[in-house]
Amino acid sequence: MSLSRMTSFGYCILVVLGLIVSESVLCNGGVTSSFVRKVEKTIDMPLDSDVFSVPPGHNTPQQVHITQGDHVGKAVIVSWVTMDEPGSSTVVYWSEKSKQKYKASGKVTTYTYYNYTSGYIHHCNIKNLKFDTKYYYKIGIGRVSRTFWFTTPPEVGPDVPYTFGLIGDLGQSFDSNKTLTHYELNPIKGQAVLFVGDLSYADNYPNHDNVRWDTWGRFVERSTAYQPWIWTAGNHELDFAPEIGETKPFKPYTHRYHVPFRASDSTSPLWYSIKRASAYIIVLSSYSAYGKYTPQYKWLEEELPKVNRTETPWLIVLVHSPWYNSYNYHYMEGETMRVMYEPWFVQYKVDMVFAGHVHAYERTERISNVAYNVVNGECSPIKDQSAPIYVTIGDGGNLEGLATNMTEPQPAYSAFREASFGHATLAIKNRTHAYYSWHRNQDGYAVEADKIWVNNRVWHPVDESTAAKS
Ligand SMILES: *[C@@H]1O[C@H](CO)[C@@H](O)[C@H](O)[C@H]1NC(C)=O
Ligand SMILES: *[C@@H]1O[C@H](CO)[C@@H](O)[C@H](O)[C@H]1NC(C)=O
Ligand SMILES: *[C@@H]1O[C@H](CO)[C@@H](O)[C@H](O)[C@H]1NC(C)=O
Ligand SMILES: *[C@@H]1O[C@H](CO)[C@@H](O)[C@H](O)[C@H]1NC(C)=O
Ligand SMILES: *[C@@H]1O[C@H](CO)[C@@H](O)[C@H](O)[C@H]1NC(C)=O
Repeated sequence: MSLSRMTSFGYCILVVLGLIVSESVLCNGGVTSSFVRKVEKTIDMPLDSDVFSVPPGHNTPQQVHITQGDHVGKAVIVSWVTMDEPGSSTVVYWSEKSKQKYKASGKVTTYTYYNYTSGYIHHCNIKNLKFDTKYYYKIGIGRVSRTFWFTTPPEVGPDVPYTFGLIGDLGQSFDSNKTLTHYELNPIKGQAVLFVGDLSYADNYPNHDNVRWDTWGRFVERSTAYQPWIWTAGNHELDFAPEIGETKPFKPYTHRYHVPFRASDSTSPLWYSIKRASAYIIVLSSYSAYGKYTPQYKWLEEELPKVNRTETPWLIVLVHSPWYNSYNYHYMEGETMRVMYEPWFVQYKVDMVFAGHVHAYERTERISNVAYNVVNGECSPIKDQSAPIYVTIGDGGNLEGLATNMTEPQPAYSAFREASFGHATLAIKNRTHAYYSWHRNQDGYAVEADKIWVNNRVWHPVDESTAAKS
């Protein structure tokens, strides 16, 4: 048989097999949304955009952002940058209910990156706050001081309602601005953002132009100064560039974004946990060692048994690279971490896992793929009521554009997928129920393009899949 005949014969068999396979898988597959988007190029907002404007005055604080400062929500880390001189790292704060003013003192740091020198980056952890209280806080000195506010979460407890926003891979394009605006104007009001990594995309500029870290900080300040964003590191936080002498991974990110990792006995800001209201949030790093015996592995191994579902019924994991992803982008990049940690997620009944990385949206059924032992051939994901729902929410709108190419047919594990920019919200109601919805940027602020009532895996482990209802 000539090579070309062999090839075409093989091709015929493949086509026939392919048809049989796709038929059987399609029967179980989820929804690939039929939404038709206008095809537009995703471009970054120019440096003179309104969202990047520098607050007036000498050394005025800018790029203000807050995050949780301890394990339970009674502390807040306030961070900001002053451009001209170190100035003051003190935060003056007071509760809405009292005139008594308090002071907390912070620290200032700087870093250089290739030929860029950062401004003065301030971090101040305000501790011993009261739960569920609105605080005002003032930073900067004299005429150039600025005042913002935040509300601390309610005390940790099993039936405390709390609403999280979910944003990933945001960047600083015109679409990023739409995503942030939609999050702000969504009638489902997020109280804190779970951010699944890839912040500024400064590394897409020549020499990772860190000026784009500064513009990003100013762009998101309108949200990050008023509610905590819980940070996860993505690949765009690595800024590893030996070709220009920058060999310390995560340098700009770790200088600019502090997280309370020591409060959860972590040894690295790249993985840590917090409790907030009725949720226990575990943040992992796709770009740090996670194999057996590594610091992240040992931390997670000791961390998971500490989660008390009577106190915090909702166990949520954030990680940048998705484990289940049916787009033809970053395909299987999360696979090695899945192999390491998925058995634990099933054992400890994680409720939901949120990831970014792929610039599109996808939600899975509750599935696991933990039976395979190299020789038994059991290597396909199966429905598993102890497993989490996996959501890819890397559709924040950065300059790299949308991931539109999907693997076909849609795998049975994938419940809903669509290549559009947007954000999601998770509204925890009590220990049994949470309402999850995804909001695409083209729609009105109140429109939910995908939605599901999520049943808690410990307190109400009922199958909530679409298939279970039909
Ligand atoms: C850094 O170097 C690049 C090119 O090598 C140049 O365009 C840029 O102006 C420099 N920036 C600073 C702050 O010196
Ligand atoms: C960004 O969005 C805000 C709020 O919708 C708007 O005021 C601003 O003009 C937008 N900026 C750009 C550059 O699109
Ligand atoms: C779990 O939390 C509940 C409620 O806060 C508490 O009563 C119980 O003692 C905790 N269990 C453990 C093992 O710490
Ligand atoms: C989609 O991705 C597949 C797999 O990488 C590739 O073979 C195919 O050409 C892509 N299709 C388009 C339209 O880019
Ligand atoms: C929990 O919240 C859900 C949704 O709002 C509600 O249907 C259910 O009755 C609540 N459970 C309790 C015990 O209040």
